[in-house]
Amino acid sequence: MLRGTMFVTTVVGVVSVLYAYGYLTPYTRMLMRHVPDNVKSFMERYIDISDHTADVKSTSGRIFTKDELWKYRGEGDSAVYLAVLGQVFDVTKGRKHYGPGGGYEFFSGRDGTRAYVSGDFTEAGLIDDITGLSLTDIRGLDDWIKFYKKDYIYVGKVVGNFYNAEGTATEAYREYEKQLATAEKEKVLTAADYRRFPPCNSESAQGKGRRLWCSNLSGGIQRDWTGLPREYYRPGTTKPRCACVKDVGPPSETPNVPSADHRNVGDLDNPNMKVYPGCEPKSVSCSFNDF
Ligand SMILES: *[C@@H]1O[C@H](CO)[C@@H](O)[C@H](O)[C@H]1NC(C)=O
Repeated sequence: MLRGTMFVTTVVGVVSVLYAYGYLTPYTRMLMRHVPDNVKSFMERYIDISDHTADVKSTSGRIFTKDELWKYRGEGDSAVYLAVLGQVFDVTKGRKHYGPGGGYEFFSGRDGTRAYVSGDFTEAGLIDDITGLSLTDIRGLDDWIKFYKKDYIYVGKVVGNFYNAEGTATEAYREYEKQLATAEKEKVLTAADYRRFPPCNSESAQGKGRRLWCSNLSGGIQRDWTGLPREYYRPGTTKPRCACVKDVGPPSETPNVPSADHRNVGDLDNPNMKVYPGCEPKSVSCSFNDF
């Protein structure tokens, strides 16, 4: 047990050092296989042990031209390769899906990055251009990369929008990384926003109209208050959403203000909140007729 612990400590140390020098090589990955999952997740909180940074920095793996990659569509006995964000994966073990006649055969032999999130599997959609995608889509692409890294084999890169002929990441790839960082930050901010202003329950039925209401579990946010439904215009977003707004106590921005200095209406005074037209301001439930 002690020897095991020391081994893990050593591996963690070695991996950290390698990482610090930008060397997340196949050797590091090999070492990582000896690190138990709980230690790995601990490490992931402090250093990036995922492969994406390494793949950009290192020149590991083969560099494919588009024509070369196109040969790997599983015809005859050939292997099946596909690329996402310029990174090529061997998906031969998923030949049933990615090989000829499979439900995802259109992904094979090319980098159809955009289609993974757009759902447009036509020739026009199966492209490596990702300009104009939403932050949710950008996170979606990262999820796909993680999926292929976990379940399939990374084999190299394809020359195109994301990597040049030397296998170096292009400006487009750097832009993707920047957007991913923004998307991750946005995700954290949105989670915090949902805790502060939990979404309302909603139901609508033909002929019965629509109902929005709050409960102490609405939006999947468990809390010890219920709140009142308000139309919430979150700065930076284009569409309002229904939020359950705390209606007693101090405003959530200044939770420690003395009770004499606040109106005891929670966040109801927040300028981004509007009472729904046709809804009683103190009602926990708002019903709207069909138009
Ligand atoms: C949430 O509401 C239910 C019923 O409306 C109540 O039984 C429960 O105690 C409440 N939970 C909290 C944490 O206030």
